[in-house]
Amino acid sequence: MSSGMIETGLSSQALDVHRALASLQEELEAIDYYHQRVDVTGDESLKEVLAHNRDDEMEHASMLLEWLRRTVPTLDLQLRKFLFSTGSLTALAATKEAPPRGAGLGLGSLRDLGQKEQS
Ligand SMILES: [Fe+2]
Repeated sequence: MSSGMIETGLSSQALDVHRALASLQEELEAIDYYHQRVDVTGDESLKEVLAHNRDDEMEHASMLLEWLRRTVPTLDLQLRKFLFSTGSLTALAATKEAPPRGAGLGLGSLRDLGQKEQS
């Protein structure tokens, strides 16, 4: 099981969200590690390889973020609000949007969606 698990008895949906979040965290850490090494190495050929690897990790992180967006309704709502926007982020944060169904990660909404898909 991936690191960071603090609860037992989680639903299969919550476990998969945890797996994706833990993996996203690992990909973001890898981006940071590679980026730091790109910044400091004096060897241009090594810099090129490290930058390539860093950019691959960005692809991995983006894929996980998109899976989470598709899976967690509240995250979808927040990403739609902020990503690719312009202007003040704090002003945008102060705006109201329609409240998501369910609470927290929106997993209550996920359960509703699963029931709808099965019927
Ligand atoms: Fe990766």
